[in-house]
Amino acid sequence: MSIIQIDQLVKSYRVQQKKEGLREALRGLWHRETKTVDAVRDISLRVESGEFVAFLGPNGAGKTTTLKLLSGVIYPTSGTASVMGFVPWERSLEYRRRFALVMGQKNQLWWDLPAQESFRLHQQIYKIDQTTFKQTLDELTSLLTVQSLLGRPVRELSLGERMKMELIAALLHRPEVLFLDEPTIGLDVIAQHNIQQFLKFYQEERRITILLTSHYMKDVAALCKRVVVIAQGRIQYDGSLSGIVDSFSGDKIITLQLSEGQSELGLERFGTLEKIAMPRVSFRCPRNDVSRSLAEILSNYQIDDMSVEDPPLEETISKLFTHVSEDRTGETADQS
Ligand SMILES: Nc1ncnc2c1ncn2[C@@H]1O[C@H](COP(=O)(O)OP(=O)(O)OP(=O)(O)O)[C@@H](O)[C@H]1O
Ligand SMILES: [Mg+2]
Repeated sequence: MSIIQIDQLVKSYRVQQKKEGLREALRGLWHRETKTVDAVRDISLRVESGEFVAFLGPNGAGKTTTLKLLSGVIYPTSGTASVMGFVPWERSLEYRRRFALVMGQKNQLWWDLPAQESFRLHQQIYKIDQTTFKQTLDELTSLLTVQSLLGRPVRELSLGERMKMELIAALLHRPEVLFLDEPTIGLDVIAQHNIQQFLKFYQEERRITILLTSHYMKDVAALCKRVVVIAQGRIQYDGSLSGIVDSFSGDKIITLQLSEGQSELGLERFGTLEKIAMPRVSFRCPRNDVSRSLAEILSNYQIDDMSVEDPPLEETISKLFTHVSEDRTGETADQS
C-alpha cells in the first residue's frame, strides 16, 4: 500500500457572485447568485514512502487545496484519500501526531512569544517526552543555525528566520509525512538555499515523505525527483523534471560559433533565429530536425564550436501552464 493514496478527489467551493450596479445589488438581496469553483477536480495519485514530490502549477491550480485536504483542514466534495492508512479529514489524534503542514504564507507560531515558548507548547500538545524534545530541538536548531534566536519574539525575526522556526515547530514531533506549501516564498536567494539544503539533508537522513509546492524551479530542481504538474484542478503531468522538457518542448536551441569571416546568412532556414552576437548565433530548431540540420550546417559553414541545448525549463513550464489553461472551462454559474 502506498503511503499516500488519493482517488478521484474533488473539492468545489460555492462562492457568491456579486454583480455590479445598484439594481443588481438590490436583486441580490433576494436572489443570491452563486457559482461553483472547482478547486480540485479529479485528482488520483500514489506516493510511496520516502518520496519527495513537487506540485507545480499556475496560481489557482488547486495545489494548496490538495494539501489542505490531505492535512484534514477541509473536507472534500467527493473522492477518497488515505495517508499512512488514515483518512485525513477524520482528524484523528493519531494522524495529527504523524504528519505536519507548513504554509509559507501563514504563521503558525505565536507572534508575540519567543519561538521556544511555542515549541514548549508543541511539546505538550504532542506529548513529547523531555529527552526526545531536547534532542530533537538541539538537532534542528543547530542544523538551521538559529540557536541564538530562540528567545526573541517571533515578530522580531526576519522572514527567513521565521520560516526556519516554522519548520522546527513542524518537525518537533518527528512527522513521517510533511506537507510544505511554498516554504521559501518571499525569501532571498541565500535564505532559500539554506532552507533547501536543510530539507534535502533532513529528508535524506530521515527518509520521510514530503509533498512540496513551490513557484521556484530552483527548489524543485534541488529537491524533487518527481514532479506532478497540476492545472485546473487536474494532474497534467507526473514524472521527472527533465521529462517535462522532453514531453512539452518541441525545440532545441543550437548555438554556433562561426569561424572568422563566416556570415550567418542562410541559417534562418534551419529554425528561428534567437540571438545573433557575432560570431555566435543561436536559433531554435525542431527537435526532430536537429541531426539533419547539424549535418547540413557542418557541410556548408565553417564552425569553431557549437552546442545543442534544451530551452530554459521555466519557459517550457510556463508554456505547459498556458497550454492547459487555454481551454479553461472551470467555472459554472448557477442560481439558488
Ligand atoms: N476558501 C475558498 N473559497 C472559495 N474558493 C476558493 C477557496 N480556496 C481556494 N479557492 C479557489 O480554488 C482554486 C484553487 O486554489 P488553490 O489555493 O488551491 O490554488 P493554488 O494552486 O494553491 O494557487 P497558488 O499557486 O496561487 O497558491 C482557486 O480558484 C481559488 O480561488
Ligand atoms: Mg497555493
